Amino acid sequence: MINPTEKDLISANRKDIHIDLAKSEVSRPSVAHPLDLISLPHNALPEMNFEEIETSCKFLGKRLSFPFMITGMTGGTKRGDKLNAAFAKVANQSGVALGLGSQRTSIAHGRSQKKIRKLAPNIPLIGNIGGIQLAQENGLDLARAAIDDLEADALAIHLNPLQELIQIEGERNWCGVLNAIEGAVKMLPCPIIVKEVGAGISLAVAQKLQNVGVHYIDVACVAGTNWARIEAARLPSKQRDIYTPFLDWGHIITDILPEMRQSLKNVTIIGSGGLRDGLDLAKLLWLGCHIGGGASIILNSLETKTLEIREEQLLNSLETIKQQLSIALFLTGMKMSDFINNFPTKP
Ligand SMILES: Cc1cc2nc3c(=O)[nH]c(=O)nc-3n(C[C@H](O)[C@H](O)[C@H](O)COP(=O)(O)O)c2cc1C
Repeated sequence: MINPTEKDLISANRKDIHIDLAKSEVSRPSVAHPLDLISLPHNALPEMNFEEIETSCKFLGKRLSFPFMITGMTGGTKRGDKLNAAFAKVANQSGVALGLGSQRTSIAHGRSQKKIRKLAPNIPLIGNIGGIQLAQENGLDLARAAIDDLEADALAIHLNPLQELIQIEGERNWCGVLNAIEGAVKMLPCPIIVKEVGAGISLAVAQKLQNVGVHYIDVACVAGTNWARIEAARLPSKQRDIYTPFLDWGHIITDILPEMRQSLKNVTIIGSGGLRDGLDLAKLLWLGCHIGGGASIILNSLETKTLEIREEQLLNSLETIKQQLSIALFLTGMKMSDFINNFPTKP
């Protein structure tokens, strides 16, 4: 049993504030979107029937209707749990994978997420805890509890040193996290996904992770939700100034993906960080990731004033992403397998 600490209480409140800030202009980066610089090769002779384009794929042993995952955002508060339930219903209907936000708070408060598995029996569900929490005492117990509660197909371990550094209440001792991840890979009953939250994972870090047995990496690069800006917005202005030069810190996805895919033969790469539509998803697959992921795009389906989820709209936006991916496949005259499996031998 993990009892709630003062930190857990602060963290529950913070999770709700994060949704508000992530949905606002505060979280937008000022850099140009890197995927705008990529164009896919037009094929005037596609030699395929658009109506027969296949986008489905396997991920974590289950079939997705297209290669996409809603990455972890929330949970542990009344509002967060309500959002997760809506995400679960829609993700199951759409056939995409679903990651939960950090489960640390919900486990500490005894707020079970079992309902999520009931709402989403057919899709991969991914639990979530922080790398820093994993490295602390009882870290493995927390990880096991997160997996059991959700009947998770995988556990995401998030790395967020930039975010923790800026948070007043954040963790600053990052020693021992890689060791803890290695322990988790050996001891836990399901695959581990290591993810960033918006500053990206370099090839060097990805290689270290592969060396300790991690087979899934979600790169979560700069371009989308910007935690430096979100956390800086919560600081008094004097402290905020210290972080001003770091507001767009992090890896650009177009710089890291192709090399990462070529170098890491045994890793499934989840491409994320500012995914805006199905063409972005196609570009990410083209650049070398196996599936795409997104968080902020999902928040577009929240009612602006009440922040209630509009399930129908979320369902439609996922369908739109799938259709846009199909259009990109048709216009390049390529099958999904050419996009995903033949890298880097594509023309
Ligand atoms: C409101 C919000 C809360 C988030 N909370 C978590 C979290 O608890 N754990 C985690 O691993 N990532 C969390 N993330 C990060 C996302 O999973 C994702 O990696 C990041 O936002 C980059 O994707 P995006 O640019 O599509 O938003 C959160 C994102 C948002 C927008």
